[in-house]
Amino acid sequence: MYITLDGVSRQYGDIWAVDRVNMGIGQSEFVSLLGPSGSGKTTLLRIIAGLEKPTTGRVLIDGVDVTDLPPHRRGVAMVFQEFLLFPHRTVYENLAFPLRMLKLPKAEIEERVAWVVGILSLAGLEKRYPNQLSGGQQQRVALGRGLVGRPKALLLDEPLANLDRELRQEMEVEIRRHQIALGIPFIYVTHNQEEALSMSDRIAVVRRGRIEDFAPRTQIYDTPRTAFIAQFVGRSNRFEGTLDGAGMLASDCGARLAVPAAGLAAGSRAMLFVKNEKLRLDPAGATPAGANSLACTVKDVILRGAYADYILAFGNRELNASRPRSERAFLAGEAVTASFDAADMDLFDADGERPS
Ligand SMILES: Nc1ncnc2c1ncn2[C@@H]1O[C@H](COP(=O)(O)OP(=O)(O)O)[C@@H](O)[C@H]1O
Ligand SMILES: [Mg+2]
Repeated sequence: MYITLDGVSRQYGDIWAVDRVNMGIGQSEFVSLLGPSGSGKTTLLRIIAGLEKPTTGRVLIDGVDVTDLPPHRRGVAMVFQEFLLFPHRTVYENLAFPLRMLKLPKAEIEERVAWVVGILSLAGLEKRYPNQLSGGQQQRVALGRGLVGRPKALLLDEPLANLDRELRQEMEVEIRRHQIALGIPFIYVTHNQEEALSMSDRIAVVRRGRIEDFAPRTQIYDTPRTAFIAQFVGRSNRFEGTLDGAGMLASDCGARLAVPAAGLAAGSRAMLFVKNEKLRLDPAGATPAGANSLACTVKDVILRGAYADYILAFGNRELNASRPRSERAFLAGEAVTASFDAADMDLFDADGERPS
């Protein structure tokens, strides 16, 4: 592993912002730290950068224990949400700044700035000031300032949080392309699951200072290891209830659901998640009533372009289904059957763990 975190913790007063984290990040991996606000993502990133000292544990980069090294001796760079460009300096000066701090010769500074200007498509903007740039251009300059020192790894802390959705999605593609071209690890902090899913090789889900799971992005999305991840990643319908010999009785809506018998004793509490896109819709009566077929009424239809999001009334609760527009459309007021396959449910015990 290129970057190793070995038992890393950070205490502030009586809270553990980072709590016994062990992680290994590969030579050219894109890894996201995904978690809600306050879960410890920034603290963990700052510990890797050397901006924060861990209370316990070690950080290794490229085989070297850097735990006691200052940031500028670690060979990693960091990009922040607020861009932190100097407003009274030109793009060129902003990009050259980290190199001047390293006291590099003028010719080398010029060569390296020209290199980042090239890869980040900033040609022609060198003499502008930050307030004369679009949000995307400012973001690219901030990225360029991280890359200009040719770091061994780039750490990014919510760099797209201030951009609108369309620009954010463009930048996601761009950032991933740069990471692949450079072949260095990027560690990307975000609370936004779409960003983490769009770019990452692997995602570490962070919760209360701990890594809840660290796995390939498809695995995080398709087979969440815990109820917390199922809740946090993707959009799902959640059922809670008690298991009996015949399945699960959902406590909030009285639905009887067929669940795999695996691992959970009759009488125990369980949680079940079904992703919105896994809920099939058929006109009421069109399919024989089977296991996990729920009679609903369409309350509302939200068009999302290629998809339609349906809000369904089921007894006294709502269900959410997301269906491709290529399928039959339903209108508000229509009676539908919402159904799902056993393979598409994620079942957890009362503690939010998968039954073994
Ligand atoms: N310098 C600090 N002093 C005291 N508490 C801090 C400090 N930095 C972070 N924390 C606390 O540590 C926890 C994790 O914060 P942070 O790493 O910023 O989370 P995130 O980036 O996931 O939002 C929060 O409870 C936060 O209030
Ligand atoms: Mg943060």
